Amino acid sequence: VCSGPLSGKRVVITAGPTREPIDPVRYISNHSSGKMGYAIAAAARDAGAQVVLVSGPVSIPEPTGVDVRAVVTADDMLSAAGQAVDEGCDVFIATAAVADYRPDNCAGDKIKKTSEDMSLALVRNPDTLATIAARPDAPFTVGFAAETRDVEHYARDKMQRKKLNMIVANDVSTPGIGFNSDDNAVTVFWRSGQQVLGPESKAAIARQLVALIAEQIQ
Ligand code: PMT
Repeated sequence: VCSGPLSGKRVVITAGPTREPIDPVRYISNHSSGKMGYAIAAAARDAGAQVVLVSGPVSIPEPTGVDVRAVVTADDMLSAAGQAVDEGCDVFIATAAVADYRPDNCAGDKIKKTSEDMSLALVRNPDTLATIAARPDAPFTVGFAAETRDVEHYARDKMQRKKLNMIVANDVSTPGIGFNSDDNAVTVFWRSGQQVLGPESKAAIARQLVALIAEQIQ
């Protein structure tokens, strides 16, 4: 039997990038490696939680003892996360770097080079975190905000707009932290407080973040 600050709790985490297909061989994506989300999954597991990890395409090992559900697009992420929350969820943590837009339609065949320029029509993707936070049975929701400037302002704004309980602001303008690195430095904001974590390894930040969440849901 697991004992720990999240013992008996169900935690759903999104991680990694999404891929939005342009044609059968091309896609739009970003530099998320999944490291931050996977570290949080391992820390939540170690704190005694039952963990579902909804993961975009990454090339890092799956954490053991975690239910990993692979997805590709933002649409897939929304349905897999919704289903995981339907199964029971006390805490929802969105670390994924979801593509905000996708090609309006995916070409059935590889697009040929014919003209000197081309443009792609893009449409907005659904927001998994905002959708989960708006549910009448919403769990405790934690968002991430990757920003390159005015980090605190944008993070607090996202917390309010998306009706989150907590937001983790990630200044991705600093080399060596954020996307794809092993280390990170963040500021966590909740309604009545804030705390700086790092710079240190994503594993260490994940453990401290899980401890903060456990305190808040007591
Ligand atoms: O994966 P790594 O290489 O370890 O890098 C970690 C990270 C930098 C990707 C991570 O720490 C991080 O900051 N993730 C959030 C990335 C981001 O750009 O978020 P955002 O500002 O677009 O979105 C805000 C929040 O809404 C996030 O919690 C995001 O998961 C969520 N969201 C956004 C859009 C969308 N369509 N659905 C969502 O759920």
